[in-house]
Amino acid sequence: MDSGAEVIVVRHAGPLRGEVTVPGAKNSVLKLMAATLLTDGVTTLTNVPDIADVAIMGDLLAAIGVGWDWHPTDRGTLVLTNGGQITPVAPYELVERIRASINVLGPLLTRCGTVTLSLPGGDDFGSRPIDMHLAGLEAMGATFELRKGDVVARAERLHGANITFEFPSVGATENILTAAVFAKGTTVIDNAAREPEISDLCNYLVAMGADIEGGGSSTLVIHGVERDSLRPVTHEVVPDRIQAATYIAAAAVTGGEVVVINARPEHMEMPLRRFAEMGLTITPQTNGIAVWAPERMRSIDFATLPYPGIATDYKPLIVTMLSIASGVGIVTENLYPGRFRYVEELLRLGADISTDGHHAVVRGVAQLSGAPVRAPDIRAGAALVIAGLAAEGETVISGVDHIDRGYDDLVGRLARLGADISRR
Ligand code: EPU
Repeated sequence: MDSGAEVIVVRHAGPLRGEVTVPGAKNSVLKLMAATLLTDGVTTLTNVPDIADVAIMGDLLAAIGVGWDWHPTDRGTLVLTNGGQITPVAPYELVERIRASINVLGPLLTRCGTVTLSLPGGDDFGSRPIDMHLAGLEAMGATFELRKGDVVARAERLHGANITFEFPSVGATENILTAAVFAKGTTVIDNAAREPEISDLCNYLVAMGADIEGGGSSTLVIHGVERDSLRPVTHEVVPDRIQAATYIAAAAVTGGEVVVINARPEHMEMPLRRFAEMGLTITPQTNGIAVWAPERMRSIDFATLPYPGIATDYKPLIVTMLSIASGVGIVTENLYPGRFRYVEELLRLGADISTDGHHAVVRGVAQLSGAPVRAPDIRAGAALVIAGLAAEGETVISGVDHIDRGYDDLVGRLARLGADISRR
């Protein structure tokens, strides 16, 4: 059945207990896949999450000329074969489905000298422009022409440039970084995004033969290399910090005790600190994070910010936690204007939340109660599932196709921790 027609049914459960393993990060693997366009040959990615967006990105790469062969049950192995026959055109049908499709722009432009790209889609968080991507590439010598809904980019050979972002955009950092790999001379990106997924991309590119300094910091220095300096490699995708937080939230709202295997505490310092303020006992372990939840959490105020701040993708989970914590939490969204739509769904479950522009005031209630709700996007969908764990009675979540875009077997993983959850 088309997952758009399926629902997830969750019933109130006791404390979740046990171990859950976090797969690789969506927001890393999609970028690593796009970067395989830089080099001919066979690339192997492991720890690839079994999510719909990987298949969409695979189809996009196939349309451009890179074959893909995916073995989700074999350590999440994805084999990408770039035979060198590249058509630098990213068609609308695929681009409109995921925001990460924009990540083919940098590699294709630096490799082929021209790209035709439909303007990207993905989650509907209000307007999500790409002006910083285009301005950075323009500073490196690219020209752009807008033809109906397509951007046509050209650059015989990009050259190095000093680029200072007014905001550390994840996607713009990645596009400039990959484009700079073959640019003539040195590119410096100041106020670069430094999410762990960007460090993962830097590590991957360096292993391939790129010359990059400062990965994981807010200044990236990329010395352009010749095209034949790159070779394909085998690379393990960094674990997904947002999925990790999802299982922490599941433990938190059920008063449970869960070990999140493969979660990297060093990638989640800020959210872990805030979870501790809410009353969770968080113990970093060599292979993950152990979480012990109190009977009732305390509220906190928080604001979303670029890494190392609290990522906007954690927000629906934390708002769900606040909705049953004791006290009042004030939440400020600094990244996306339209990212409070799931609040209406939480209200259907009995949460007490009011929103005003970028702010939400969450008054913790003693108990949520089950109801039919709809997932408006990936992270909000997961948060509604987590809310359902804490809600009295039955919660039925539709819009499951959104959840499948970014979550690898959320239902199975929660069921193995003891949740009463199924899909139908
Ligand atoms: N922005 C601009 N101009 C630009 C680029 C960005 O105005 O040229 C604005 C955006 O409109 C947005 C803000 O800057 O308001 C942040 O955008 P950013 O470029 O940092 O984000 P992104 O690359 O589009 C990635 C993730 C998102 C995550 C954000 C922020 C991927 C595929 N997506 O998006 O993840 O929310 O960074 O951390 O990596 C998700 O996984 O569910 C998801 C939405």
